[in-house]
Amino acid sequence: MKYQNLLVEISERIATITVNRPKSLNALNLATVREMKSAFEEVSSGKNAGVVLLTGAGEKAFIAGADITEMKGFTAMQALDFALLGQGVLSFIEQMHQPVIAVVNGFALGGGCEVAMACDLILAADTAKFGQPEVTLGIIPGYGGTQRLPRLVGRNLAKEMVLTGDMITSRRACEIGLVNRVFPAAELMGAARNIAARILSRGPVAVRTAKMAMNRGLDMDLPNACAFEASLFSAGFSTADRTEGIGAFLEKRNPRFTGE
Ligand code: CAA
Repeated sequence: MKYQNLLVEISERIATITVNRPKSLNALNLATVREMKSAFEEVSSGKNAGVVLLTGAGEKAFIAGADITEMKGFTAMQALDFALLGQGVLSFIEQMHQPVIAVVNGFALGGGCEVAMACDLILAADTAKFGQPEVTLGIIPGYGGTQRLPRLVGRNLAKEMVLTGDMITSRRACEIGLVNRVFPAAELMGAARNIAARILSRGPVAVRTAKMAMNRGLDMDLPNACAFEASLFSAGFSTADRTEGIGAFLEKRNPRFTGE
């Protein structure tokens, strides 16, 4: 499928989705969010990609948030639709079977930080900046920032970011657990592809169900979450991947997983 505001390419079973509006620092207008919905659905339902990288075009920004120019004219109901549309895309990213890695090459602000938080890993350039600056515009985060940020970094640090609207560096974001790893900007995409390749070499059914166990389980109480994990653990024993994985270990060879 062709997109106006996204670039989508797949190579070596890694899909790269690039938000491509560099003149607006890859701000998310309605058209772009709708395209993200289609692109993630297309990649998720296809068989060609086992990991997705999400990044922004240009050197300056990952995503500088919702498109402020477009939001200027929103009624309250249009804002509600915009929030629900974006939240739906982020929830799809969390629930799709392939791991999604945010490759944060620059500003990840507002909706940009929120998109990154819905991904499974966040890798950032040393030049990147994170923040939820909505209060500086007189509004609040609408793509789950008030919910995912406290779950990731804890209530008080999240409040500091959301209530001040201040940006933090990628190093600080890494210290507080918002970002997994920080790389020199020029090495970021290569490092992301290496991590994606490592995930691709593992048992595909196991990777898929481990993602599901963690993302779904975090929304349950601990006894139910552990019961959910046990059922997925046991289901894994009926797969060809477990026969191959355990067999390969015992035979001291590399596994050849089929994802079945
Ligand atoms: N929406 C629309 N356009 C944006 C934008 C955004 N979020 N962020 C940047 N731009 C545009 C600028 O208007 C500017 O356009 P022009 O060249 O036509 O003037 C261009 O991108 C370059 O930006 P700057 O000149 O401002 O670049 P800078 O280096 O001086 O500053 C910045 C960079 C600090 C990221 C600054 O652009 C900025 O603060 N952007 C807004 C960030 C923001 O508030 N995001 C939150 C949006 S609300 C939201 O996301 C709600 C939600 O939860 C869903």
